[in-house]
Amino acid sequence: MGRFTNKVVVITGGNGGIGLAAAQEFAREGAKVVVTGRNPSSLAEAEKVLGPDALVVPTDVTKSADLDDLFQTVRDRHGRIDVLFANAGTAKLAPVEGTSEAMFDEIINTNFRGAYFTVQKALPLLSEGGAIVFTTSWFVQAGVAGTSVVSASKAALRNFARTLASELLPRKIRVNAISPGVVETPLFGKLGLSEASVQELGQHLMQRIPAKRFGTPEEIAKAVTFLASDDASYITGVELAVDGGLTQL
Ligand SMILES: NC(=O)c1ccc[n+]([C@@H]2O[C@H](COP(=O)([O-])OP(=O)(O)OC[C@H]3O[C@@H](n4cnc5c(N)ncnc54)[C@H](OP(=O)(O)O)[C@@H]3O)[C@@H](O)[C@H]2O)c1
Repeated sequence: MGRFTNKVVVITGGNGGIGLAAAQEFAREGAKVVVTGRNPSSLAEAEKVLGPDALVVPTDVTKSADLDDLFQTVRDRHGRIDVLFANAGTAKLAPVEGTSEAMFDEIINTNFRGAYFTVQKALPLLSEGGAIVFTTSWFVQAGVAGTSVVSASKAALRNFARTLASELLPRKIRVNAISPGVVETPLFGKLGLSEASVQELGQHLMQRIPAKRFGTPEEIAKAVTFLASDDASYITGVELAVDGGLTQL
């Protein structure tokens, strides 16, 4: 028996990278997974990878109506949520002088506002004893040039994990965050940088990582399932770094 047999697990941003790896890991351990995202081709790919037991729901976390539709669909299909992995996120890099209001709004709306209202709208469905996991970032602990808005959005999320953990104590719902280091995912192609700049960034980051390698989505997924499982029954309000020592050594 897997740790998530018959548990209902909802994953935002589950159509690629860390979210899809987590969906596979939860499903392997018996969960009924619901994954969301926006891109039709990666949603179709996720549907193929996860098989017919998974529910794939196109959802833009910045759109209130999409979130309402998502949770109505989950209510109709499963009637409850046991684990919410609020993972959808974006990253665009620019120095403060080069940050437009549109870029600022897109990042904050996705990473913080999106996660906040995902949780708010999921709360009526969350079962007693359930778990919420957020995806923050190593940027919360480091002042990396060019990341001012992404870092602030993730710091807001990290703080939200604490207050939410307090508010949900009476319902025995634990709230934690995983903080990935540098992980090889499609995110690097979405930064708004040229291929050459991505390569250069990768080399620069590699020098900073004590483990001398990037993480894999599967390594992050293992930490997510741990925090969501009863193995972490006495853990709430924490941010777990999964980063090859990047923020600790
Ligand atoms: N990779 C890293 O090095 C790293 C480091 C620290 C933190 N993180 C965090 O890890 C999380 C997962 O990222 P990843 O690395 O796995 O990259 P990814 O493959 O690009 O995953 C991001 C996911 O978020 C979804 N998403 C973005 N905007 C959305 C929106 N408005 N509505 C709904 N879904 C949206 C994407 O779906 P669509 O493609 O369909 O939009 C995608 O499924 C993010 O929160 C990211 O900030 C990643």
